[in-house]
Amino acid sequence: MRIIIEPDYEALSKKAAQIVASKIKKKPNIVLGLATRGTPLGMYKELIRMGKENELDFSKITTFNLDEYWGLSPSHPQSYHYFMWDNLFSHININSERVNVPSGTAKNVKAYCKWYEQKIKEAKGIDLQILGIGRDGHIGFNEPGSSLSSKTRLKTLTVETVEDNARFFKNKDEVPKYAITMGVGTILEAKECIILVNGENKAEAAQKCIEGPVCSGCTSSALQLHSKVITILDEKASQNLKRKKYYQYSEKMASNLKKLS
Ligand code: GLP
Repeated sequence: MRIIIEPDYEALSKKAAQIVASKIKKKPNIVLGLATRGTPLGMYKELIRMGKENELDFSKITTFNLDEYWGLSPSHPQSYHYFMWDNLFSHININSERVNVPSGTAKNVKAYCKWYEQKIKEAKGIDLQILGIGRDGHIGFNEPGSSLSSKTRLKTLTVETVEDNARFFKNKDEVPKYAITMGVGTILEAKECIILVNGENKAEAAQKCIEGPVCSGCTSSALQLHSKVITILDEKASQNLKRKKYYQYSEKMASNLKKLS
């Protein structure tokens, strides 16, 4: 796993956007896996800027979102559908037919999840998956205890996640208790992954994800088994890393090597 430590959230977001932009330029019909919520917002803003300034063309990309609350319609302001259109898709020249976000209103959930997996396969898999992590180190909505080979399915959210989300809803009863999420196994099938982690409140999760044992108690730790992962952290999120100095040294050495070759 490549570890990049940036001074703050702005630098982290710019770095992530640069990497994504260079991949889009290399492969204009790239298949991206996307995440929601606070962490990737800065990166999305930067990608929007690049699109507006004609530095980047999104017209041929395909996207698959990681997850969606079950029970929320796409027009609900807290749905991940709404989030993605509000914070990214409406501002770039994406083809809406190539946008895929799991449905929060699917009736036959099992069949729907199978179909979502099939759609990813038909697109020849995800080239680059963007991930944030929860405070307990979860990815998507793969809560602690999720099978590390799981595929897209309905997950019951933990009490902690429901409580965490309550602030976004007017009424407590409205807070979703379930979500449809790509599985850890689905994520591991992506050709490359970028994990973004910022803030002090993620420092413990970041340490477990990068240096802890691979276990279902922290589903992001499964990414240690993937051969092409870049984790970008800000200074605060990196404060618990035991091998922080080595990661920084190794980044410096890699760039020296680039200059030499
Ligand atoms: C939810 C989402 C995750 C996200 C996490 C952290 O659990 N399903 O994809 O990474 O929240 O959100 P934030 O980036 O706001 O801290």
